[in-house]
Amino acid sequence: MKTTMNTQPTQQQLKQAVAEKALTMIEQGMILGVGTGSTVNCLIDLLPKVNLKGAVASSKVTEDKLKALGIEVMDLNQTGELDLYIDGADEVNENLQLIKGGGGALTREKIVAAASKQFICMVDESKWVKQLGVGFPLPIEVLPQARSYVARELVKMGGEPVYREGFVTDYGNLILDVYDLDITDPVAIESRVNNIVGVVCNGIFAKQKADILLLANADGVKMLK
Ligand code: A5P
Repeated sequence: MKTTMNTQPTQQQLKQAVAEKALTMIEQGMILGVGTGSTVNCLIDLLPKVNLKGAVASSKVTEDKLKALGIEVMDLNQTGELDLYIDGADEVNENLQLIKGGGGALTREKIVAAASKQFICMVDESKWVKQLGVGFPLPIEVLPQARSYVARELVKMGGEPVYREGFVTDYGNLILDVYDLDITDPVAIESRVNNIVGVVCNGIFAKQKADILLLANADGVKMLK
């Protein structure tokens, strides 16, 4: 008797699948904005297959990985607007609004995304949520001196900030991970948090959401716009 094993892909296989799909959307000769994280790492390993003019990195970690593969890392102040930025996310909702910053690179990621004509976000299905911030705390980059003040302001907003101990961002700042913040209106909360003095940037990408989402599950990779 023949038995069929119904094996589900692992999360790592889904990350690989979505990275392979993203690779097909990169054009030869481009300067590519490259995000940060384990999903992006799958893409970075594939980049030698494309003849890029260069790349702009969203973190020191990504920069080092690109350089190790012989890809020229360029300064965003020298490149002008980028055609494409590709990155992962910690959470994504049906409006393609995101939470990012699990790896602490949110500010540089938001800068490179803002400076790009198109943002393609790659995720496996574990990142797909009904509401942002319920299952994943919101990362906020703060100036060191403002840490306690910003934390108190976040408590007034109903959040529970936790200092990410021992972590310093590429810009020399700190991260507060905020639990239980009501992010029913991501655009409003993104602005409100950014308006707290001492906040450098927060991990809600709502005003500036993904243009295209590549979502990997057991059935394949779906493209949502
Ligand atoms: C890095 O700061 C983050 O914004 C990452 O893009 C995000 O955490 C996704 O990472 P993974 O692909 O490792 O889940």
